Amino acid sequence: MNTQFVGQPIRRVEGHLKVTGGARYAADFNLDEHVYAVIVNATVGLGRIVSIDQAAATRLPGVIAVISHLNAPRLAYRPHKGAIDPATGERLHVLQDDQVRFYGQPVAVVVADTLDHAERAAAALSIAYVAERPAVDPSASGTTEIMAEASKGPNAYYPADTARGDADAALATAPVRIDAFYDTARENHNPMEPHATVARWDGDRVTLWSKTQFVINEQAEIAAIFGIPTENVQVISPFVGGGFGTTLRTWSHVTIAALAARQVGRPVKLALTRKQMFFTTGHRPRSLQRVALGATLDGKLTSIVHEGRGETSRYEEFIEALTTGTGFMYSCPNVRTQYRIVPLDTGTPNHMRGPGEAQGMFALECAMDELSYELGIDPIELRRRNEPEIDEGTGKPFSSRSLMPCYDRGAELFGWAQRNPAPRSMRDDREYVGMGCASATYPVLFSPTRARARLLADGTAEIEVAASDMGPGTYTSMTQVAADALGLPLDKVRFSLGRSDFPPAPPHGGSQTMASVGSAIHAACAAVLEAAARNREVRPIEAEGSAQRDPDVAARFSMHSFGAVFAEVGIDRDVGTIRVRRALGVYGAGRIVNPRLALSQCTGGMVGGIGMALMERTMLDARDGRPVNAHMADYLMPVNLDIDQLEAHFVDEEDPHVNPLGVKGLGEIALVGMAPAIANAIFHATGTRLRNLPISIENVLTG
Ligand code: MOS
Repeated sequence: MNTQFVGQPIRRVEGHLKVTGGARYAADFNLDEHVYAVIVNATVGLGRIVSIDQAAATRLPGVIAVISHLNAPRLAYRPHKGAIDPATGERLHVLQDDQVRFYGQPVAVVVADTLDHAERAAAALSIAYVAERPAVDPSASGTTEIMAEASKGPNAYYPADTARGDADAALATAPVRIDAFYDTARENHNPMEPHATVARWDGDRVTLWSKTQFVINEQAEIAAIFGIPTENVQVISPFVGGGFGTTLRTWSHVTIAALAARQVGRPVKLALTRKQMFFTTGHRPRSLQRVALGATLDGKLTSIVHEGRGETSRYEEFIEALTTGTGFMYSCPNVRTQYRIVPLDTGTPNHMRGPGEAQGMFALECAMDELSYELGIDPIELRRRNEPEIDEGTGKPFSSRSLMPCYDRGAELFGWAQRNPAPRSMRDDREYVGMGCASATYPVLFSPTRARARLLADGTAEIEVAASDMGPGTYTSMTQVAADALGLPLDKVRFSLGRSDFPPAPPHGGSQTMASVGSAIHAACAAVLEAAARNREVRPIEAEGSAQRDPDVAARFSMHSFGAVFAEVGIDRDVGTIRVRRALGVYGAGRIVNPRLALSQCTGGMVGGIGMALMERTMLDARDGRPVNAHMADYLMPVNLDIDQLEAHFVDEEDPHVNPLGVKGLGEIALVGMAPAIANAIFHATGTRLRNLPISIENVLTG
């Protein structure tokens, strides 16, 4: 493989467009004669709409339509399951009946000539409900849990139960035991760009300028909902201003935008407010977990028990990788994992960066840290003593695994040797200082993808894939891959994405874009070069290529990325404020296509992990399920002032098995491991073990 550009810290090819305002996000598209739609959300958490009084609203200036279940057309809602939709259950059917299933569910939409007019009319709508008290707390007594689906759809990766040996018996007889409960908060994705869709119908064809991480799924979903052929839906999504998973699914607002546009016969622009993004666009489910470890006195694990519960909605079973990492992280003869979900009166949760792994590894890695103190063994050394030869969960060898090289490099860069292992032993003038570490992991995904390559007469090339770029730098990294494959300079290659009439790509999630889209581009470029060699005179000439995982390789290897994450915290000795003084992650993620972008991707993920550890929590009012902090003033996320020093590094790792490019993906793993590293550092600083996230000043002060 020619690597003139792959592996180089190339600057973003789309950077100029972004900083000059030339990059157009969904809500930036303005069509002739377009009007504005504003969604009205239920103000009860469970119940039924009794009446909608729209007289006052319709009298207001500029109002074109008020649409609710009373007058909305019945939509086809053909069955459709995209790769990221829950395998069990049925998506929310919006504006189709009087039922309110969760607080904030869309119950009406107002269309007006200006956004201001639409907002005023939406506020003037008077809706009466019969309300019941919703169940929104998975830890409350009376909630029932259900088995997490084991093998439906594409998600065989999330088993309800796994076991090897007899973990409970081994735990009972273990010389040293740790057994504790962990509670991680519900979180909401808060990308800079809110969800938005501009919809325009031309007869029975609809075009959606829309924010999405999964272009062809949005096309298929809207076609299924409206009962029209897939090719009658065109999705255009050239830029995505952050996603973290929230735009993997096509949520109800996209349907509402299309429905409203059809109803009023004009293009409609619909953008969610920040507050509305806490209602209907997924969230990281709260988790309740128990991790128990048994070990010998010299630090060899003899038992791991990991039981986890997550949230789901009443109408869909959302499952994620809460306990999966536990199966292969460490060598241990007796391991039992159990995963259950609790149906609540809430919107369906969704994948949020490191979905499941982030919460599950928090519990496991805090327990490992606790065990290290119990044994008096350095936490890195403890992991070294339990480093497995193979994936003991599946019995397969790892395609590559660099956990210990990551720890070794990280310990050196971080200055781990300067750490006094005794809790509460390190301090400076004002602060208790603590250093902690934790492991990170995420699977290497690779889904079938197609790409098109075209050579033009002027010596340039065009590459097209229906992929997304939510910010990691897909435009740039794919241009690097194509330029190398074609032997062209970067500025002779134009890579386009974000159109549903381009060759299909998998979800821009699960850290699989580089592997999947990159490999398909590689194949398409090889195909077009071959075609060009046969037809020297023909220009333009184009060819398609595809890539997918070799099932043979998948059967032979366990494929995961690994990382070691370090944090140093300072705890104010008087008032308990928690400050992340330094954070450093080292990752073994296969080939790094662009070190500049990879660094940015990883430090961004680490910031997400700091938010998970110390700030992010969606608080629900127990009476009605209302998210009480659905705004940026009270839903806190780290800013520059919250973090002094952030570093990400990569160990050299060649993995010939995972995919043709040898890349493992970086998006998700960069968040995993940060929260436990911080919790472990807080223990080291204070001697207080805190197992609930986010960790607040009050927790530090009161233990
Ligand atoms: Mo990521 S949660 O797969 O967008």
